[in-house]
Amino acid sequence: MVTQYDIVVVGGGPAGYTAAIYAAKKGSKVALIEKDRLGGTCLNRGCIPTKTYCASAELLMKMRGAEAFAIKDGGVRPEIDFSALYERKEGVVNKQVEGIRQLIKGNKIELFEGEALIDGNGKVIVECGDSRSVVEYRKLLLATGSMPAGIRGIDIDHRLILDSTDILSLKNLPSSLLIIGGGVIGVEFAMIMSAFGVRVYLVEILKRLLSTEDSMASRIVTNRLKNLGVDINVDTKIEELKAIEGGLKVELNNKKSFVVEKALVAAGRIPVLNARDDIKSHILNDRGFIKVDSHLRTAIPDIYAAGDIVGGMMLAHKAHYDGEIAISNMLGENREVDYSAVPAVVYTQPEVASVGLSEEKAKEMGMDVKVGRFFVASNGMAMARNATEGFVKIVSEKSSGKIIGGTVVCESASEMITTITMAVREGLEFEDIEDLIWPHPTISESIGEAMRDIKGMAIHKVGI
Ligand code: NAI
Repeated sequence: MVTQYDIVVVGGGPAGYTAAIYAAKKGSKVALIEKDRLGGTCLNRGCIPTKTYCASAELLMKMRGAEAFAIKDGGVRPEIDFSALYERKEGVVNKQVEGIRQLIKGNKIELFEGEALIDGNGKVIVECGDSRSVVEYRKLLLATGSMPAGIRGIDIDHRLILDSTDILSLKNLPSSLLIIGGGVIGVEFAMIMSAFGVRVYLVEILKRLLSTEDSMASRIVTNRLKNLGVDINVDTKIEELKAIEGGLKVELNNKKSFVVEKALVAAGRIPVLNARDDIKSHILNDRGFIKVDSHLRTAIPDIYAAGDIVGGMMLAHKAHYDGEIAISNMLGENREVDYSAVPAVVYTQPEVASVGLSEEKAKEMGMDVKVGRFFVASNGMAMARNATEGFVKIVSEKSSGKIIGGTVVCESASEMITTITMAVREGLEFEDIEDLIWPHPTISESIGEAMRDIKGMAIHKVGI
């Protein structure tokens, strides 16, 4: 039997499952097709398992620095129990997956568990083992996501040379790890693994780690990783990566050579879409992402796309945002995407959170900017928490005074960035928030001070 739905969503990750729920809450008859587990990369192979590891790494680092808080450790150095942590991570993920399943059911969304082939003409074919069903749609949302990218000349064999999915499946820690790529995944795993006692080598082809973040943020993270013992090699290429007895032999173009047990390739992600070739040639760009307009419509009528598959910032919250915009437009609204205020977080210690334009990016774009800065070392709460490493930087456009971006580097930066996101999103100027009362003592007062610093009015900072 073929059932027609108002909206069919392909992909149950942060773009797809949230879009399906949103559409159902708006009264549509919705089907969701997922070939793997609900929650997509973020929940099963990305954000949530990684952050579960990050939480243990952070606590471990804090416990090892307990003396700074006048706590005696009795000379016992805390260590990670990795197999217990693996189980904890699985537990967190499974609970969340089950939660989404309940939400899908509770919102009366039909869930098809199988692989969707986009057939066009209002039909999607779902294959699961030997069974095959046809699902008909009035509107279709493609939210099929992305997968780890490879590197030319390096064969990810999923045994010795891993991608980010593989490393999250390891049940035992390797003694040593080469990480190729000093972007978000690379630095997060470098911090996690080194905190857990793994000898980590990090190789980045560009001149600095986290090259899209503010350079001062990148410097702080680099120094922290070095203090944890990570061997950092920027502006460096892999000359040779060869399997040998007991691991991998590595040769870098900076003349270093060493042996590691495993390697992790963290060099970006590529799109995933299972569709007929003629459909693909119609809707994909030359990098394999789906081309969409500002309403997230593809070149084929009634087919929309959202999340990683459309490229740009591959972030779960941006995917969620896309999904809702696409559904709204399917339902006759007129909503355009606006990516000027998408926050991004790197979960190192300290955390790096940013939104809008960095000072460097704004200048690169030829904008005349005024910057306010505040170092959290001067913040009382940061001192109390022994978390004085970091800063807040606010970037404003000189001509209009509008806040166009900001970076926060400190403990809990991920929880603090929303204030700046709101300012960027709403096009606020310093004067609009001059009267904002910040709770004291909090590290977030540093945001207020950095905003005041644009006008030379930061109270806890000398000079104008
Ligand atoms: P990325 O694009 O952030 O970083 C990849 C890095 O690898 C770049 O710095 C690049 O220069 C380097 N690279 C590329 N080829 C290389 C080579 N042959 N040798 C050495 N270095 C090389 O990609 P990443 O870290 O894999 O993350 C993928 C996506 O997942 C990103 O879009 C990221 O935003 C997202 N993500 C987000 C997280 C978060 O929000 N906290 C966490 C993890 C991933």
